[in-house]
Amino acid sequence: MTDQIPETTHFGFRTIAKDEKESMVAEVFHSVASKYDLMNDLMSFGIHRIWKRFTIDCSGVRRGQKVLDLAGGTGDLTAKFSRLVGETGSVILADINDSMLKMGREKLRDSGIVGNVRYVQANAEELPFPDNYFDCITISFGLRNVTDKDKALRSMFRVLKPGGRLLVLEFSKPLLDPLNKAYDTYSFHILPKIGELVANDSESYRYLAESIRMHPDQETLKEMMSDAGFDSVSYYNLTGGIVALHRGFKF
Ligand SMILES: C[S@@+](CC[C@H](N)C(=O)[O-])C[C@H]1O[C@@H](n2cnc3c(N)ncnc32)[C@H](O)[C@@H]1O
Repeated sequence: MTDQIPETTHFGFRTIAKDEKESMVAEVFHSVASKYDLMNDLMSFGIHRIWKRFTIDCSGVRRGQKVLDLAGGTGDLTAKFSRLVGETGSVILADINDSMLKMGREKLRDSGIVGNVRYVQANAEELPFPDNYFDCITISFGLRNVTDKDKALRSMFRVLKPGGRLLVLEFSKPLLDPLNKAYDTYSFHILPKIGELVANDSESYRYLAESIRMHPDQETLKEMMSDAGFDSVSYYNLTGGIVALHRGFKF
């Protein structure tokens, strides 16, 4: 009799069985949901707002279009897209985690964003939408947490209309060595401390730092997007490559 060896993946720096990752990521986001927006501002000194603004500017989204904000969490991009597409367009905020979706729905409703936004609990790997449906898909700081990234990219490709585009905003590999060193000190020493003080949770923020290091670098992600079917894939390094915005088209 042969023992079956389970397929493995990463959860931060740990190697785990593939089928464990989804629930471990879920725990992280259930735990951080209520402090997520505050922590984003504190951790990035507010710079995440500039990265997101740039993403919107590169999206080319216009009135009347259909947008999917995947792994949309508390809905920063959804709010901006909702204004851009207007009454004749629509935005779906999809996320696997109901705590994050709840925070997103409450925040957007409190800021008067209703009407053209829908909320859907969904896994990026198996999107419950028709083929060729969206004009634009964004996944902002979400892909890193997905167990099977190739499967998720293929799923996004399927639901995108011909002529549509995918934008992946994600942490990436800093371009300069000195920046790398300062960034390591910040990520592994300061970040978990902020997490402990503000959210009473240092472990989730340790996972955040580790998951960033394990995420594919700029060129690898570009190749993964091409392999999933996307054309004219390119990327912009933001803040010295700490973050990159990848864009690919379905022709
Ligand atoms: C760091 S938050 C990003 C939220 C938001 N997009 C932003 O930029 O502020 C990552 C989000 O990805 C979601 N997520 C993780 N794995 C997912 C999956 N397989 N499918 C869909 N969403 C997922 C989490 O629940 C969480 O809300």
